[in-house]
Amino acid sequence: MIVVEHDEDTMRLADEVIEIGPGAGSQGGAILFQGSPAELMRTEARQSVSGPFLARTRRVEKAGKTKKPTDGFLTVREPREHNLKGDDAKFPVGLLTVVTGVSGSGKSTLVNDVLATAAAKKLNGAKAVAGVHRSIENLDFFEKLVQVDQSPIGRSPRSNPATYTKLLDALRNLYAQVPLAKVRGYQASRFSFNVRGGRCEKCQGDGAIKLDMQFMANAYAPCPSCEGKRFNRETLEVLFHGHSIADVLDMTVGDAMQLFRNIPKVMDKLETLAAVGLGYLKLGQSATTLSGGEAQRLKLSLELSKRQQGDVLYILDEPTTGLHWLDIQNLMDLLFKLRDAGNTVIVIEHNLDVVNLADWIIDLGPGGGSAGGEIIYAGGREGIEAVERSLTGTALRRWAEPLPAS
Ligand SMILES: Nc1ncnc2c1ncn2[C@@H]1O[C@H](COP(=O)(O)OP(=O)(O)OP(=O)(O)O)[C@@H](O)[C@H]1O
Ligand SMILES: [Mg+2]
Ligand SMILES: [Zn+2]
Repeated sequence: MIVVEHDEDTMRLADEVIEIGPGAGSQGGAILFQGSPAELMRTEARQSVSGPFLARTRRVEKAGKTKKPTDGFLTVREPREHNLKGDDAKFPVGLLTVVTGVSGSGKSTLVNDVLATAAAKKLNGAKAVAGVHRSIENLDFFEKLVQVDQSPIGRSPRSNPATYTKLLDALRNLYAQVPLAKVRGYQASRFSFNVRGGRCEKCQGDGAIKLDMQFMANAYAPCPSCEGKRFNRETLEVLFHGHSIADVLDMTVGDAMQLFRNIPKVMDKLETLAAVGLGYLKLGQSATTLSGGEAQRLKLSLELSKRQQGDVLYILDEPTTGLHWLDIQNLMDLLFKLRDAGNTVIVIEHNLDVVNLADWIIDLGPGGGSAGGEIIYAGGREGIEAVERSLTGTALRRWAEPLPAS
């Protein structure tokens, strides 16, 4: 049996582990380690990135100091949606709060169905009905809600990281400034594969042609006219430092950062993509092929590139799904950056590396379904381990201990 997995417990239980890396995209692809989990945890496996994390000699670290509540609380009074039992939930303003609890304990109900829905209605003008609760205090502290979930960013194969973050708009403007484009009178729209003018008309900018396979599932082949480049020959003759717009869409974020290092408008977008750990992603990769975690980080990147000053309420549901420890480190650095800019961050998460870094924890439980829905603990990270009824507290206590030598 072969399992592709980041999960610590799964790794520990494996007979054999193969680690590939050390980085992502062009920085990866080498086999760093092969052997038993016990061997992986030994320090001799120096090549390994995962080994020290698995051995718990290396941890995800906190960028910045732990903060205490000083600016009041965003308070949900008497939430009773689904299994919630009506305990007031108080989220400290300006801190990073992690909401924990076993599956079915009511985390998503409290944070998404009640709080985020009410916030979306009040702050963003969304039409929605929040889950049952009495009232919410201090929502007016915030200017805006940003909710980052793992739903796909678009079903259209024409959507990709460059279009989604509006990086492509900046690139189109840049290409329209190239001397050859000016001589020929090409506007920015010439460098779009969505409209007539610069795109390949044989495939209408798809880069692929649907094959009629009669009774079989649809199959696609690269467009014979543009060879998958999506643009017509004249458009592709316009080069920026030797690269056409199609070449750029085929580049990773990291490679594009080399090419555009002197173009601030383009670099802004590329830097935020890199900051969420997507430096390995190709700019033109179809959105339909992105993983849930990649889609979520892409959304986060878009929000970050808007450069808000503060007073934003960020809500994330299980952002670490599918992430390696190093990716979790990147993500947490980013979330603390948002916090330090004056925003309030609420994260639903059961990953203990994340829970461990929280300024504030709200633990729901004790069980799932009707056996859950109570607030078992609300307070700083330091207090939860002493709470007998808290499964999260027990798990953190065990997690914080060094591993028994095996
Ligand atoms: N639409 C719904 N109608 C009825 N009950 C629901 C609905 N959505 C959730 N529940 C129930 O409410 C309880 C809390 O669910 P919730 O999704 O909030 O749990 P959770 O803590 O987010 O779990 P997980 O970690 O699995 O995401 C569960 O017993 C669930 O079955
Ligand atoms: Mg949930
Ligand atoms: Zn074509």
